[in-house]
Amino acid sequence: MGAKIGRGKRFIKSPGRGARRALPEARGAVKDRGLMTSHTFAPLGPLTGSIRVPGDKSISHRSLMFAGLAVGRSRITGLLEGEDVLATAAAMRAFGAQIAREEDGSWVVDGVGVGSLLEPNQALDMGNSGTSTRLLMGLVASHAITATFTGDASLSGRPMKRVIDPLSQMGASFEASAGGTLPLMLRGASPAVPIIYRLPVASAQVKSAVLLAGLNTPGITRVIEPVPTRDHTERMLTGFGAKLEVGVENGETVIAIHGEAELAPMDVTVPGDPSSAAFFMVAATLVPRSDLTIMNVGLNPTRAGLLHVLRQMGADIEEVNPREVGGEPVADLRVRHAQLSGVEVDPDIAPAMIDEFPVLFVAAALASGTTRTTGLEELRVKESDRLAAMAAALTAAGARVEEHADGLTIHGTGGEPLRGTDNARVKSLLDHRIAMSMAVAGLVSEGGVEVDDISPINTSFPTFMGLLEEAAAA
Ligand code: S3P
Repeated sequence: MGAKIGRGKRFIKSPGRGARRALPEARGAVKDRGLMTSHTFAPLGPLTGSIRVPGDKSISHRSLMFAGLAVGRSRITGLLEGEDVLATAAAMRAFGAQIAREEDGSWVVDGVGVGSLLEPNQALDMGNSGTSTRLLMGLVASHAITATFTGDASLSGRPMKRVIDPLSQMGASFEASAGGTLPLMLRGASPAVPIIYRLPVASAQVKSAVLLAGLNTPGITRVIEPVPTRDHTERMLTGFGAKLEVGVENGETVIAIHGEAELAPMDVTVPGDPSSAAFFMVAATLVPRSDLTIMNVGLNPTRAGLLHVLRQMGADIEEVNPREVGGEPVADLRVRHAQLSGVEVDPDIAPAMIDEFPVLFVAAALASGTTRTTGLEELRVKESDRLAAMAAALTAAGARVEEHADGLTIHGTGGEPLRGTDNARVKSLLDHRIAMSMAVAGLVSEGGVEVDDISPINTSFPTFMGLLEEAAAA
């Protein structure tokens, strides 16, 4: 079944998964174990040519939600067709929006209108997606409907109290599992009560949940944000015609949304996801002789922290053809191999690269000297405990890592490859970003890195394996 392509690299198809694209063999086997698919990642040679990463996950979720709330027809181009976003699409359909994929790959949405959400007739399965869950809870909270949210084992362990608290203040009521987790049932309030809410955690999901609840609440709902987080909700809601003001008071951002809004349909073009590009930015930096261009990468300043930190470490990343796509700054990134040096990462930059720390830890493991990160408690409540997961996985691959309550300290190899996992599988723990980060670690290891389950990659980056193959074979 193996066919020789590229520079003599062999590729095999994953057994038992006929529809899957070819996976790089990488000196190991692909094994299906029930729904889990293990895979060994090993050096593939330099990453070259140009690749295009899929649409931004955060923007894709929001485009479906806001189009689904508008009155009339919107068209979305470049939507990420990953499992998380498809969970949002299914939920918006259950709320009454009509959503269809056209043959050219664009998505057409006929919205139901703010205030007119239908009550879903069965539980909403959110899969692995915290963004779908928390933002949609905000939507339901100010409608006179009841909805039940369920999710996979990872999502069912994640904290929902952070949205339950403000949405309860607005009048919604909840029956959640012990500890404030899924499954939970939410009874929306109509009319809901506008609040002024100061975010206790730097979370764009909590901010967005309150703003979305505010859309169907009489009066003005305000969110005070002491530390800036990604602002896609603010940008896109304004595009859909919501009345939203962003100001600064006492050094803190204040976002005010005027309620009982009517959203007008619009066409959205989703830029490429910087969080997906991150894996290729680090891979091309670490793999000798790489020269890879990643096309169409969103560079919203609230998301571009990794680019800044990698450059501080000595990475060679050039922004080519900067432009605007869908109201967001975008550029192509030309990434050439470079030797990195360890740094102290300023905790203030964390919200602007919150999803990129797992792959930054891989970069740090190959740098010369020590990299210290602090202020990262939030990483413990992502799809997995990302501090514990990456400390365990990198250690198993031969890196020198110390785990602290709020970060990792990593002593780099100075560019020498990692040992590899020696047939001891690392666990991806239902976390797409752990699986892809350890894939990158495998590319710069001697013996390869075996990941126990790569299927979570489909939640955010279904084309990852194919693009890795493409870049290595170019
Ligand atoms: C997201 C916000 C972040 C991020 C997540 C997507 C969003 O979560 O980790 O992947 O789309 O708003 P928090 O806002 O909870 O940090």
